[in-house]
Amino acid sequence: MASNPGGKRRISILGATGSIGRSALRVVRHYSDLFDVVALSAHANVDLLAEQIREFRPRHVAVSDSAAATRLRALDPPCTVHTGEGCLDTVAGLNVDVVLCAMVGAVGLRPLLAAIEAGNRVAVANKEPFVMAGRLVMEHAKRHGVEVLPVDSEHNAIFQCIHGHDQARVQCIHLTASGGPFYGRRRDSLAGVTPEQATQHPTWDMGAKISVDSATLMNKGLEIVEAMWLFDLPPNRIDVVIHPQSTIHSLVEFTDGNILAHLGVTDMKFPILFALTYPERVESPMARLDLTRLKALTFAAPDFREFPCLAYARAAAETGGTAPAILNAANEVAVAAFCQGRIPFLAISEVVRGVMETCEAVQDPGLETIFAADADAREKAETLVTTRTV
Ligand SMILES: NC(=O)c1ccc[n+]([C@@H]2O[C@H](COP(=O)([O-])OP(=O)(O)OC[C@H]3O[C@@H](n4cnc5c(N)ncnc54)[C@H](OP(=O)(O)O)[C@@H]3O)[C@@H](O)[C@H]2O)c1
Repeated sequence: MASNPGGKRRISILGATGSIGRSALRVVRHYSDLFDVVALSAHANVDLLAEQIREFRPRHVAVSDSAAATRLRALDPPCTVHTGEGCLDTVAGLNVDVVLCAMVGAVGLRPLLAAIEAGNRVAVANKEPFVMAGRLVMEHAKRHGVEVLPVDSEHNAIFQCIHGHDQARVQCIHLTASGGPFYGRRRDSLAGVTPEQATQHPTWDMGAKISVDSATLMNKGLEIVEAMWLFDLPPNRIDVVIHPQSTIHSLVEFTDGNILAHLGVTDMKFPILFALTYPERVESPMARLDLTRLKALTFAAPDFREFPCLAYARAAAETGGTAPAILNAANEVAVAAFCQGRIPFLAISEVVRGVMETCEAVQDPGLETIFAADADAREKAETLVTTRTV
């Protein structure tokens, strides 16, 4: 793997101002002798990005909101500021050793492809592009000889458990889910849930969208699709199990019946560090799991009736084609509407169901077909949100 003359690993972080991006920069701060930050991106959080520029000295930044880019340029930062259409693809395509994809939502798909096209290894937290176009992403990576490293804690755990084993001997994988803040609650008790309550995750500290997805269990549904493509498994070999302690981050079951589990504390810096330093392992000062303080580790089957988003996502995974992209687009619109106070919590799953029922999936889609399905689903979801027919 190439690195700059100082021997440091050159990295770009897309979504630097988000929860994953900030955790990644904490890792970089600690290992300043290991990493050289080439590029960062943000959407609109110029204040934080300006601080990050001062500390990490990237040569390039992309700011996708043009008004925010104007504000940043007025500060005369010591780097090139990219903005406008394609600015994220431009920085993703700069030649580096690893691009950390940590933006939220479908917006990350084109930059992910651009990073791969440039031959950059990609460390992917941003799961929505995988849900939309996982097959195309993996084919693209194969074509360009690029390694795709999962950062999502479950997928990173699976990656570590499978590593060194014959992938053909994987019987199934068990994705663990905390159950979110409403685990054990009846659906009819969630009618008045506020965005503040839905974003209070019991075990992980994350951005708003993924927190709401965790509350509806859609997050675990998106992760089923993500795992299908990352580990080349059909959905019926990807199981979800509720594990409220979030100590086991996922498990791999092999054909001989042996099961390997990955354990750790709930801190995204671990999978980020793994992905940024892969294939090496470094010393880390981060707080470890104290096995003697662990109490019970419990597991339960998810309740698809009380949390229907998980069922919709599994159905989309089984249908394939553009179905996951349609599901993802509807969910992005519904979650944004919920966070803006435009629809109640329970309407998120209703919007997703409504869109899934009206959009027909196209099999073996190319990229443009996927983007068209995404746009159509967003429009239909927006109509459902606006007219509140759900
Ligand atoms: N957080 C976690 O612990 C975690 C764990 C596993 C997987 N993930 C996945 O990682 C991704 C990021 O999650 P997160 O929790 O870090 O999200 P987040 O805190 O909301 O951060 C999102 C980042 O994306 C940027 N962004 C937002 N909208 C954008 C747009 N339209 N164009 C370009 N950039 C945009 C934001 O910039 P501004 O700040 O300027 O708005 C921010 O840098 C998600 O796909 C999530 O599912 C997260």
